[in-house]
Amino acid sequence: MNRVYIKTYGCQMNERDSEAVAAQLRARGYVIAEDEHSADVVLLNTCAVREQAEQKAIGKTGHLAKRKRKDPNFVLGLMGCMVQNRGTDLLERLPDLDLLVGTQKFHRVPQMLDQFIASQKGLGPRPSTLVDLEEEAGSEETIREHTEGESQVSAFVSIMQGCNMHCTFCIVPKTRGAERYRSMDSICKEIEELVANGTREVTLLGQIVNSYGMRQMDYVNGISPFVQLLERVNAIPGLDRIRFTSPHPRGFQKDLVDAYGRLEKLMPYVHLPVQSGSDSMLKRMRRPYTRRRFLEIVEQLRGVRPDICLSTDIIVGFPGETDEEFEATRSLFEEVGFDMAFIFKYSERAGTKAAEMGDDVPVEVKDTRNKDLLDILGRSSLKRNQSMIGTVQPVLLEGPARKGEGMFVGRNPGNRKVVVAANPRLVGQIVPVKIHDATVSILQGELCLTGVDETLPQSLSDAH
Ligand code: SAH
Ligand code: F3S
Repeated sequence: MNRVYIKTYGCQMNERDSEAVAAQLRARGYVIAEDEHSADVVLLNTCAVREQAEQKAIGKTGHLAKRKRKDPNFVLGLMGCMVQNRGTDLLERLPDLDLLVGTQKFHRVPQMLDQFIASQKGLGPRPSTLVDLEEEAGSEETIREHTEGESQVSAFVSIMQGCNMHCTFCIVPKTRGAERYRSMDSICKEIEELVANGTREVTLLGQIVNSYGMRQMDYVNGISPFVQLLERVNAIPGLDRIRFTSPHPRGFQKDLVDAYGRLEKLMPYVHLPVQSGSDSMLKRMRRPYTRRRFLEIVEQLRGVRPDICLSTDIIVGFPGETDEEFEATRSLFEEVGFDMAFIFKYSERAGTKAAEMGDDVPVEVKDTRNKDLLDILGRSSLKRNQSMIGTVQPVLLEGPARKGEGMFVGRNPGNRKVVVAANPRLVGQIVPVKIHDATVSILQGELCLTGVDETLPQSLSDAH
């Protein structure tokens, strides 16, 4: 009665939360199962950002509820953003749920599960659903544990929770609550422990990482708290690579741009959500920057690191989006030439400001606009990837590739996946790979044991 399977929907923060829950459950004597069939307990960590994500989790719950009716000992729980968003209303449609856990209560899962299983053993009627959706002071410090004994070459580290912005389309401020920061000491201690356990790369996570500390900590010599944190992480011995997601264009100041020029572990890759290239749309979305300002940040970043890779989020079909407004997005998209992008069709979320504007762009128009941008993305990322053929890339090997005996996968500084034949001993090492093949999303190459080509620009040869 103690095998738990956790299925995660949505973003990297959700993955990180699930990982912490798994580690806490293990510490409590539970076993983490590989799939739902071998588990006695299934927990779904949900997403609420788009309708489709909610429907997926609801569909899955309905399916698992059938098993529950056959096997009364089977335990089924939902956690995370959709739970926080919909609350106990979920029980009207999904009465078989045993646990409902909000976004500030992940650390309570082991205890809630213990309690539920104990009352199940009481042989009475089915115990009632355990619900905890409250806010909790200090909960931002509870996403800390990583799976013990298992080394992670690349690890996510949560540095903050919540969001204080009011983007009119977004449900996250409701599901994740107000912005709260972890202390720098606690973040650095977590990273030091990871490094001692074999981690070489960390990705710092938050809704708006560059507002880290803004409402609590001070600037020091013109350096923002987030960049101070980057400096401290950069100084951790044994760590090789730093990434973060996501920064916001507002507050992407010079100190952060400059960090790309002076912090040698900071990888030349930025995911910077733009949402739209039209100023009137940005206004309706309540995104406090202009197209011009966004392009200026891109230019500054490229000034400091000409090889920097850029990725973004875009929403097509936001209420009232005209052909001209979309054209502005399309042209910005083409102009920047993103290496990667997540393009979303607008999905109305009840309770947001945008929901009052009406979802008036027809589905077919959303589809065409989505496809237009995907075509541009396909071309620009293929071009960029092909330009790497013949270069030697420093690749941090993460583990076996999904396909191919003896094949391994890792990432180059620009966050591209690289597939290469290698010895398992090299997992966790940064190895030079000569690229000989490129698709839209993957580079292929061979180990180049003579070392990184000296003629390469410094930025490509991973300076250390
Ligand atoms: N601040 C977070 C964003 C969380 S939501 C971060 O960047 O880390 C992730 C992305 O989902 C947003 O950038 C936006 O492009 C998209 N999104 C949010 N709400 C949406 C909606 N209602 N419809 C479609 N896409 C949405
Ligand atoms: Fe959402 Fe905007 Fe915050 S996209 S997470 S409200 S910055």
